[in-house]
Amino acid sequence: MAARGVGRLTCLPLCSQRSSRVLRSISRHLSCPGTVAAKVRNEEQPPRGAKTGFEDRTLKKRFSEVQKERREQAQRTVLIHCPNNINEKKFLKYLSQHGPINNHFFYESIGLYAVVEFCQKDSINSLQNGTHTPSLSTEATIPFKSRFLNLKLKNPSNQISEQSFAHTNNQFPPSSKKLFELLNYAESIDDQLNILLTTFQLTEENIRLRHLTCSLIEDIAAAYFPGCVIWPFGSSVNTFGKLGCDLDMFLDLDEVGKLNVHKNAGNFLMEFQVKNVPSERIATQKILSVIGECLDNFGPGCVGVQKILNARCPLVRFSHQASGFQCDLTANNSIALKSSELLYIYGSLDSRVRALVFSVRCWARAHSLTSSIPGAWITNFSLTVMVIFFLQRRSPPILPTLDSLKSLADAEDRCILEGNNCTFIRDLKKIKPSGNTETLELLLKEFFEYYGNFAFNKNSINIRQGKEQNKPDSSPLYIQNPFETSLNISKNVSPNQLQKFVELARDSAWILEQEEKNQPSPSSRQPWGLAALLLPPGPHHTSLSRKKRKKPMSEKVKGLLATIKSNSADSFAATPGKRTVSTKA
Ligand code: CTP
Ligand code: MG
Repeated sequence: MAARGVGRLTCLPLCSQRSSRVLRSISRHLSCPGTVAAKVRNEEQPPRGAKTGFEDRTLKKRFSEVQKERREQAQRTVLIHCPNNINEKKFLKYLSQHGPINNHFFYESIGLYAVVEFCQKDSINSLQNGTHTPSLSTEATIPFKSRFLNLKLKNPSNQISEQSFAHTNNQFPPSSKKLFELLNYAESIDDQLNILLTTFQLTEENIRLRHLTCSLIEDIAAAYFPGCVIWPFGSSVNTFGKLGCDLDMFLDLDEVGKLNVHKNAGNFLMEFQVKNVPSERIATQKILSVIGECLDNFGPGCVGVQKILNARCPLVRFSHQASGFQCDLTANNSIALKSSELLYIYGSLDSRVRALVFSVRCWARAHSLTSSIPGAWITNFSLTVMVIFFLQRRSPPILPTLDSLKSLADAEDRCILEGNNCTFIRDLKKIKPSGNTETLELLLKEFFEYYGNFAFNKNSINIRQGKEQNKPDSSPLYIQNPFETSLNISKNVSPNQLQKFVELARDSAWILEQEEKNQPSPSSRQPWGLAALLLPPGPHHTSLSRKKRKKPMSEKVKGLLATIKSNSADSFAATPGKRTVSTKA
């Protein structure tokens, strides 16, 4: 393992700033004994910077338990737009008249916002009863009552007090300059991967804000479908979310239609009169169309609403301005929620999994292999499945196959969705730990080597069996959907994008191999290890693999790499922001 004996910044970096910020925020919370809120804090995220092994998973709850508790917590929470000079103490005292507060934090978006979690749901009714709808002289208002509120100061001059200004929580990843600094001063490549994870993973506050946003949208949908649930899915909940990632939501109407056995005892069965349409797809389109209209017309802070109803999976896309989240609302999409649960299991089994996925995602973003715009690019979801598959292929395997998770399942785990068998064991404690002790550095290098040489022309990736299989069609990249096994999750990827991925993977494997041989001195300020891999393609970047290199590398190529490194180091040290790594998810 390449180790740097420096660590000058390792006691200072952002990760420690961030955790102390979180601690400050949590220490301010008034505790609320008896609520589930205290228990769910940080359940989704395993301890930061953990090393190899299975040591954390026994503490972890089932996915469904965490999601239920988070939802309940969000239902006791309000979002308040505040004046910038708010006095925190007075603000809390004012709100406490409606009941005790369990937790709160402030953050900046377009303005200052407070997320306030009460101990009891009743406090929200009390607060809403004392809230009025503004009347504007020039425009008309739509009197929609929600848990997204606006606080005004009656007498601004009385409120100003230097000591008590609200302390804000950061919702964004660090700048690329800061990130490179952190990575460059790490002690080893393993440390670099853990630092990247710590720096980019969703914070406790960001997770709360995601669940609150779903809860606010749920209130709007419930106007039509009382009892409906809006679940977050995808990277917001599957343990692989990076700060800045989108918020995928799923409108679940299953609870609405459930038969209450006790109330239906006797000889009669009462049914609702309903409208029928020719297919599930049309029903989904109609429901989403109406909810989309509703969000557009009445949803406070919901802007840029687009109804994308003809997609394979119909959706409504919008921005939630106050939280800053780009939201994708789907319906009738329970398989995607199940695949989020599966990824949650994989992400929780071994702390190396998330560290590796975050690095591969950041690497792909830095080299424009992924994009926030839909197109022929590989997606983060596909990359995550590729990492899982790679870890199933290690000897001994670091992750079990989906088939083996299915064979461990109990009767209560049985799950059939839309005719697909989605059964797997959900209790993490019942999954045997892996005996594999490979380092992150080795795994990262081998990941690039593995996919740099993968027979994409004939083989597909399949995490159900953990084996390479013949491709059923001619898509350049074929990754079998774990549950809808006839679907390819990377069908959109073009031959050019796959070629680019393969070349960059080979280059990156080579860079890491060179790291082992000649370690640059830490004082040289050259980006090394993971930092060298994250440098975006600049004017000097030429694919090394295209040069048909043979080991040992020619002096010319070595020189080229040295130029890339030193130019990039100078560039980000001297002119910050000029060569930047995109830190957006
Ligand atoms: N999904 C799927 N099949 C696809 C694409 C997506 O089943 N072809 C499901 C996956 O469960 C995925 C979720 O939809 O996690 C959300 O998709 P997306 O937002 O594209 O991926 P994320 O995993 O959320 O990653 P990101 O951080 O890029 O949003
Ligand atoms: Mg997503």
